[in-house]
Amino acid sequence: MAGQSKDSVELDFKQMMDRIMDAILILNDEKIVYSNKAANQLLSFDEQASLCGLSIGIFVNPSSMPLVRTALDKITFCHSDREAIQLTIHAGNNLEIPADLFLCPLHDEDRSLIQLTVRDISEQKAAEESFIQSERLSVIGELSAGIIHEIRNPLTSIKGFLQLMQSSGHLNRDYLTIMLREIEQIEKITTELLYFTKQKNEQFTIIDMNRIAAESLQLFEAHSKKQNITLHLQLNHEPHCVKGDRTQLKQVFVNLIKNAFEASPANGEITVRLASSDQWIEVDVQDTGSGIPEHLFDHLGKSFFTTKVTGTGLGLMVTYTIVKHHKGIISVSSEENKGTTFHLRFPKAVAEKNNVD
Ligand SMILES: Nc1ncnc2c1ncn2[C@@H]1O[C@H](COP(=O)(O)OP(=O)(O)OP(=O)(O)O)[C@@H](O)[C@H]1O
Ligand SMILES: [Mg+2]
Repeated sequence: MAGQSKDSVELDFKQMMDRIMDAILILNDEKIVYSNKAANQLLSFDEQASLCGLSIGIFVNPSSMPLVRTALDKITFCHSDREAIQLTIHAGNNLEIPADLFLCPLHDEDRSLIQLTVRDISEQKAAEESFIQSERLSVIGELSAGIIHEIRNPLTSIKGFLQLMQSSGHLNRDYLTIMLREIEQIEKITTELLYFTKQKNEQFTIIDMNRIAAESLQLFEAHSKKQNITLHLQLNHEPHCVKGDRTQLKQVFVNLIKNAFEASPANGEITVRLASSDQWIEVDVQDTGSGIPEHLFDHLGKSFFTTKVTGTGLGLMVTYTIVKHHKGIISVSSEENKGTTFHLRFPKAVAEKNNVD
């Protein structure tokens, strides 16, 4: 570089930045003081239109502003060297797109200027979606033999009773009762299986598990009075946040509490406990019921495994699939005639004031 003028170094630097595929911005507080070509293209849809002088509000939605402000503050005031956030931004083509934002100080000492890299991850998200969809379809494929079997049995018996009534020419109330029970069984199986097909509306948000646990337990209140089973919810009052789909996570609680009920004698107790560690939100669903014999542990979570007369054996399979889909872990400890505890762990999500669902 010897002999090169300051202006030509600046020109080289500008050309280098413009060749980078990532959108790069330099910020002073919330104001853009530099944007490369890729940033102009992504955020204003015109590579010639510099974003200098504008606020980051042109692409950060108001609801995400607190998240970005916190990241900026951590770099400026708390000496953080790198912050990463994932959010939906408003791109220049007027579309809302998912993006990764990486922030770091431009200089180690003077923290007034911050480099922000914005990466459009819509293709990655679409690929993840289609992977989840194909994984779901493959589960349906794996299940189909079982489904056919589970639905054909009740259908055969319904058909048999109908034929009997047809040949006798009389309605038989006992047959009708059995037929109705068989139809209810088919109904239950199809409802559980809907989980794998009806996932288009899936929405991952930051969710406070305290709320989901309380709402799920509430569904069983009438039931608990009738069966004289005591429900306990143990939590400290700070939020226990995870990133996930509210409906699916509720389904996890409901399936586990329902099993706990079905295993519990009168005067039994069911406890849902929440706790958090550095990285995890931990949930225990504990009962004082019949327990699970050790030789059945390996069958838990497998489709159509049930010890109940009218069970589908899909509840735990759906539960295990949802937990895995949320990058969680599930395990069980149980002692016959003492009770069972399902232990769940989900990666902890950071709660900001405005982003908890
Ligand atoms: N808390 C529990 N205590 C004792 N046994 C349990 C418990 N949870 C699950 N199990 C055992 O695991 C089996 C499978 O549970 P799963 O929820 O998948 O199906 P199910 O409860 O039998 O049927 P469904 O959920 O469709 O009503 C149960 O039949 C039962 O034997
Ligand atoms: Mg069940």
